[in-house]
Amino acid sequence: MAHVPVLLSAVLKTFEDVQLKVFFEGTVGAGGHAKAILEAHPEIERYLACDRDPAAHELAAAHLAPWGKKVEWIRGPYADLKEYLDERKIGNIDGFFIDIGVSSMQLDVRQRGFSFQGDAPLDMRMDPESSLTAETIVNEMPEKELARIFFEYGEERRSRQVARAIVEARRKRRIRTTAELVAIVKPVTIWGKLHPATLVFQALRIAVNDELGQLKRGLDAAIERTREGGKIAAISFHSLEDRIVKNTFRDGKDQLEILTKKPIGPTEEELKENPRSRSAKLRAAEKRRKEL
Ligand SMILES: C[S@@+](CC[C@H](N)C(=O)[O-])C[C@H]1O[C@@H](n2cnc3c(N)ncnc32)[C@H](O)[C@@H]1O
Repeated sequence: MAHVPVLLSAVLKTFEDVQLKVFFEGTVGAGGHAKAILEAHPEIERYLACDRDPAAHELAAAHLAPWGKKVEWIRGPYADLKEYLDERKIGNIDGFFIDIGVSSMQLDVRQRGFSFQGDAPLDMRMDPESSLTAETIVNEMPEKELARIFFEYGEERRSRQVARAIVEARRKRRIRTTAELVAIVKPVTIWGKLHPATLVFQALRIAVNDELGQLKRGLDAAIERTREGGKIAAISFHSLEDRIVKNTFRDGKDQLEILTKKPIGPTEEELKENPRSRSAKLRAAEKRRKEL
């Protein structure tokens, strides 16, 4: 099934009235949003397409081929926005967009270890060259720290019990695969609407990829380097991330006009078409023009 970009019409509407010459997308993934933004903005001269996962670039390249050299690939974390701009001698950008989280492509490739279904090495790195894996965290992090991660990043109610169960299991032998971890977590967590390992896997993925740190740094850089009248938009998938977006925009309110008092979620129609949009939230802001 083709990847359906989340909240696409709301994203397009956000940038609708902006002249986009230089646009930065931090999480280009399969290129779904990129293609639509490029189609809607023929005035784009440089589309900086960033993703830390090399597999994403391969996928997106096919979709974005018609735009040729307008699309510049950047392989790395979007939080390094300022470095990418400095290297290219670009002062400011006209628009910044991120759609964070794991892509369906990453979930589908079992051996990357993002999914609690099936069995795979405990990896979860979006950038396969970075050094920290989920296996390292699960086997080497102190119990208290593990509990904190599950509580803070997963909002897992049984965070301490999960950490305890992991520490007991790893005393016997190293935990190496997703199925081993699921077997340890399942008896301790609560069965609800979600699979019992959902929140633990979410928390590990966030920790492995420093997703919250990336978000804060990336947005701060975007606020600094977006031109007056330019726009910044971010789609997040859970309350922790959404809170960071909301607070970072609020902290920057001297420079920003916040365009979404409340975050924009999916329409009924979108929900039916694209279940991944269920928890998606879009927030957007405009860089204020300085009064003369
Ligand atoms: C949900 S997908 C994006 C889908 C994309 N909007 C589309 O329409 O195809 C998220 C992508 O962001 C990437 N990603 C997540 N965090 C990142 C970060 N901090 N820096 C760069 N890429 C990141 C992931 O590797 C993944 O490819």
